[in-house]
Amino acid sequence: MDTISIAIDGPSGAGKSTLARSAAAQLGYLYVDTGAIYRTIACHMLRNGIEPADAETVTASLPQIQVELTYGADGLQHMLLNGEDVTSEIRLPQVSACASVVSAYPQVRSFLLDMQRTLAETHNVIMDGRDIGTVVLPHAQVKIFLTASAEARAKRRCLELEQRGTPEPYEKVLDDIQRRDWNDTHRSTAPLRQAEDAVVLDTTTLDFAQSLAALLQIIKEHV
Ligand code: DC
Repeated sequence: MDTISIAIDGPSGAGKSTLARSAAAQLGYLYVDTGAIYRTIACHMLRNGIEPADAETVTASLPQIQVELTYGADGLQHMLLNGEDVTSEIRLPQVSACASVVSAYPQVRSFLLDMQRTLAETHNVIMDGRDIGTVVLPHAQVKIFLTASAEARAKRRCLELEQRGTPEPYEKVLDDIQRRDWNDTHRSTAPLRQAEDAVVLDTTTLDFAQSLAALLQIIKEHV
């Protein structure tokens, strides 16, 4: 089967997941959130008391990990870690911090590569992450680099946390975002960068509806 792949990369908090999920629903494509896959690996390390900075132990534990991606009755992506649903747990802040560290290890990245490519070979996908257009799906029909200023991303994140009843100070949220941006762009394996043939979509001054319309327009022009 000839499948269509749409790659969306960009920094944390640029709205990739919400936008990609909505676009995928409209187009009838499978939405794949690859950040959730790295978070599942991080979850295993935290549960087993493995220090994320200890590259050797992290790498040695990979064969004990079975990561599965399934879609619930709600149509949402669920992550299974050795058979257990960890979809909520992977959103905890300590998991975010750990994922940012362990995702820098080449062994972790290659461990997850086949899984991501197989999904794109068997389904029309919108896949979001950091290296989808550059490494995972270099032949994707559409590549989008979705970004927004760190300040705009921090403001949106603060609002989200407030609505969830777990507010955090703006300065801390901004600091976390900047730290993760630095980690994601400075690692030597598959750093976050824009593919040469990617279309940039900057949502700093756009609301959700405007961002979604712009995203769908880019896809329409290429598929
Ligand atoms: O998008 P996210 O915040 O859920 O991603 C969690 C971490 O995983 C983040 O630090 C970047 C990393 N990641 C990655 O290295 N490559 C991807 N394709 C997706 C996420």
